[in-house]
Amino acid sequence: MAGGGDTPELVAAIGNAGGFGVIGAAYLSAAQIAAATKRVAELSDRPFGINLFAAVPFESVDPRAAKRRVARFYEEIGVAIPGELEPPARMLELQVEAALESNASALTFTFGILPRHAIDAAKARGMAVMGTATTVGEARLLEAGGADFVVAQGAEAGGHRGSFAVPFDQGLIGTIALVPQIADAVSIPVIASGGIMDGRGIAAALMLGACAAQLGTAFLTTQEAGVAAAYKDAIIAAAEDETRITRAFSGRPARGIVNRFMREVEDGAAPGDILPFPLQNALTRPLRAQAAKDNRSEFLSLWAGQGTRMARSTKASLLMAALVAETEAALSGASFSLRED
Ligand SMILES: Cc1cc2nc3c(=O)[nH]c(=O)nc-3n(C[C@H](O)[C@H](O)[C@H](O)COP(=O)(O)O)c2cc1C
Repeated sequence: MAGGGDTPELVAAIGNAGGFGVIGAAYLSAAQIAAATKRVAELSDRPFGINLFAAVPFESVDPRAAKRRVARFYEEIGVAIPGELEPPARMLELQVEAALESNASALTFTFGILPRHAIDAAKARGMAVMGTATTVGEARLLEAGGADFVVAQGAEAGGHRGSFAVPFDQGLIGTIALVPQIADAVSIPVIASGGIMDGRGIAAALMLGACAAQLGTAFLTTQEAGVAAAYKDAIIAAAEDETRITRAFSGRPARGIVNRFMREVEDGAAPGDILPFPLQNALTRPLRAQAAKDNRSEFLSLWAGQGTRMARSTKASLLMAALVAETEAALSGASFSLRED
């Protein structure tokens, strides 16, 4: 979970409890990736992964209308609108190098497929390679591109949509429909993701043909998660119908809890009022950073999936223990009722 939620403390706690934590490194520099992986290794001797965003092509566009649209929020919060919006040169290349030099045991990615040489280099180092798919076609492309695992990201998922071979609205397949269809279509193992918050969801994912489940939102409300208290409170308070998919924060569709910024930037927006990813992300970053410091949820990207009512405020180790116990109970309950039939 790029953006600060997945602290090294959270990744390590998940590993120490028997899970597989992943550092969301998409917005980190090479030096920050090195520091984060070192810190995880200090806190845990368990394996963990690094996640990056595959390169997303974008065109430079006139940012003036988009800047005008967010100017009043910047004024209200008291920080300056950023001037430069373009990402640093060679960012992904340097991130991949840092990931390869790290002690991470998996390289995971979304938004597309990493270049073949990066995938081959990761495999040569013994790292597992995992890509994100939102359709069967994308899963097949990932398998053909060298992925060892495919993350099937259902429409319920919090955060950015991983779609890369279909338009975003075409890639909104629910987890329960997506996972078995991908499992039938590829020969690599499938990891289910999207709306899974407890052991019932994990057990269901396993029954649908997944080898594992990837949970995001469920870990954002743990003590170790590095998001603002107002963000954690918003997840705990949110009902299942209070998220939507928006481009307002980053320019790329992502699911989050509806708030004032989302409504006022997106509703009635004209073409050009929201920049393409990653420019809109850069345009809103200082606003979101200040909002996190001020604990103001109305300007934060409150990425969350549709399972919000199942969120729990707890320590990551306790959440992991609960997930294991619930999964075992759900699986034994299911086999019991099958026997009864
Ligand atoms: C705050 C947040 C940040 C995320 N960042 C990333 C990311 O950097 N890379 C990625 O592959 N997926 C990211 N995701 C998506 C998750 O990998 C996963 O698909 C999603 O959390 C699953 O749905 P759930 O939130 O309902 O558990 C993010 C999700 C959230 C909630």
